[in-house]
Amino acid sequence: MVVHDRTRLIGGLAFTVVLCYNRETMLGRLVEPQWIDKKFVEKYTIMEASSEDVFEFKVNMPSVIRLIPDNTEGILDYACGTGYLTEAINKIPQLCRGGVDSYDISPVMRGIAHSNGANVIEDERQLFQKKYGAVILKLVLQFIDDIDTSLAKITGLIKPGGSVIISIPNPDRTAQIYNGPYNKSWRYINEVGDFGLYCTMIHRPFEDIHDNFAKKGFYMSAIQKVTDEARGDILPKRLNARFTLSEQK
Ligand SMILES: C[S@@+](CC[C@H](N)C(=O)[O-])C[C@H]1O[C@@H](n2cnc3c(N)ncnc32)[C@H](O)[C@@H]1O
Repeated sequence: MVVHDRTRLIGGLAFTVVLCYNRETMLGRLVEPQWIDKKFVEKYTIMEASSEDVFEFKVNMPSVIRLIPDNTEGILDYACGTGYLTEAINKIPQLCRGGVDSYDISPVMRGIAHSNGANVIEDERQLFQKKYGAVILKLVLQFIDDIDTSLAKITGLIKPGGSVIISIPNPDRTAQIYNGPYNKSWRYINEVGDFGLYCTMIHRPFEDIHDNFAKKGFYMSAIQKVTDEARGDILPKRLNARFTLSEQK
C-alpha cells in the first residue's frame, strides 16, 4: 500500500513537472517579444503591409500625427519599427522642418527603417546627446516592464515646452477582452494580426501612465480615444495622448 502510494505520488509529480516544462517551453516560444528576431520581424512587416492593418495606417497613425504640435523643433520617432510613421511625418512640411530622427531597440527594425528613408540613430548613446520638441511612443509602452525608468530616460530628451505623444492599446478594451481588472497591471498574450505572431503585452491602467508623466513635470495636453469603426468595435482600440513638459523645466 505504502509503495503504491509513493509510486503514485512520484508519478504525479513527474507528470506535473513535464506538464509545466512543456507549458513553459510552449509559452516561451510563443510569447517572447521577438523584435530582434529577423524571421519574426519579416512576418510582422508582411502583416503590416497587408490590408489587416488599415486601422493603423488610416485611422490610428493620422490620430497620432494630429497630436504633434505644428512647428515642433525636432521630432524623435522612438520605437519606430519599420519607420512608416517617420516617413509620413517627413512629408508634412510644418512638422518635419526641425528634422525627424528614428530609433528602435531592434537592429533588424532599424535596418528596415533606414532602407525606408528614415534618419535612424544606430547607437543608444548617440540618442541621448540631443533634445527634441516631441518624442513619439507609438505602440511600445505595452512592451516595456519598467516604464518609470524608461520614461525617465525618454523624457530627458524633451526640450522645455516639448511633448511626448503616446499611443497604447486602450486599457478599457484589454480589460474587457481579456477579462482582467482595469486597475492593476498584468500580462496578456496578444496575437498580432492573423499571421501567427504572438507577443506578451502589459495591461496598465492609463492613470499609472498619466501619474508617471506628472511625476516628471509633464501635464496631459490632449487625449484621443480611437475607435476601429471599420470593424464595428464598440470599445476604442487605442488610447492616444500628448503630455507636455512645462516651460520652466
Ligand atoms: C508594435 S511595434 C510598433 C512600431 C511602430 N512604432 C508602429 O507604431 O508601427 C513595437 C516596436 O517597439 C520596439 N521596441 C520594443 N521595446 C523597445 C524598447 N524598450 N525601446 C525601443 N524600442 C522598443 C520593437 O522593436 C518594435 O519595433
